[in-house]
Amino acid sequence: MTVTTVRVPAKVNLQLGVGPVRDDGYHDLVNVFHAVSLFDEVTATPAATLTITVEGPAGVPVGPDNLAVRAARLLASHAGVEPRVALHIRKDIPVAGGMAGGSADAAAALVACDALWGTGMSRETLLELGARIGSDVPFALLGGTAVGLGRGERLTPVEAVGEFHWVFGYADGGLSTPAVYAECDRLRTDAPAAWPVVSDDLMAALKTGDPLALGRALTNDLQPAALSLRPSLAAALAAGVESGAVGSLVSGSGPTCAFLASSSAHAAALGKTLSGTGRFSAVRQARGPVSGAVLI
Ligand code: C5P
Repeated sequence: MTVTTVRVPAKVNLQLGVGPVRDDGYHDLVNVFHAVSLFDEVTATPAATLTITVEGPAGVPVGPDNLAVRAARLLASHAGVEPRVALHIRKDIPVAGGMAGGSADAAAALVACDALWGTGMSRETLLELGARIGSDVPFALLGGTAVGLGRGERLTPVEAVGEFHWVFGYADGGLSTPAVYAECDRLRTDAPAAWPVVSDDLMAALKTGDPLALGRALTNDLQPAALSLRPSLAAALAAGVESGAVGSLVSGSGPTCAFLASSSAHAAALGKTLSGTGRFSAVRQARGPVSGAVLI
């Protein structure tokens, strides 16, 4: 192949249960991931050396720290090939927004470079390499709806009926994921975390496809920490409730706010109302679940 392009979705967490901090600094999670139709695209073109360019919002590192660059290097060294590729990322997923945009780009780079270099990695190997790059990378490969245990990388797909309709409210400026986890630990100093368990109400809502039940079942243990670091998020979430969202929560470590609608038409109306509140730098409509990283 001469050029490969991979489209990869953002995620929202339907449940983010955060357990106590582990010896390695990570937290054991019950992380119910849901892939939504906001996409980045990563294009891999043959080149003499590894380079990276980014099109879209500011704030994406364009050096060795870029997760797509790390993914390409890891795949090359695992496969015993030279990382000769020019990566180009077209970003639509918010940067440092709690929607796993960087992890999505890493997943896309793995799939794009595997096809470009003909390295023929199995699905299992790509998932394993992805987990070495970041906890959310395996889910970006898988897509759909899935429960992630451990750091969030041990995935089990969940059968969800039908489609759900979302509105996402972007914020100006991101939040650092490690800072939000650290704030979560700080807020829990007096009351150590209980071990999280998968929510029965959430699984039942996914089985029936009922948005009202799903809206009631959404939970995020990182939300108090995100609100503590970014107090304006409280009013942003309240705006969603006042505008008729059937569920609202901070997406992952934030600061993107996720609002659930009862139908596609309701999401369009909700998006319009939320745009008018002036509380978000952008408002986007999306549906889920969608598939993970795919060659296009
Ligand atoms: O795995 P990843 O590099 O994406 O994680 C980013 C940061 O988020 C980690 O350095 C850690 O601070 C925090 N984290 C955590 N527990 C997890 C996943 C992430 O504490 N299960």
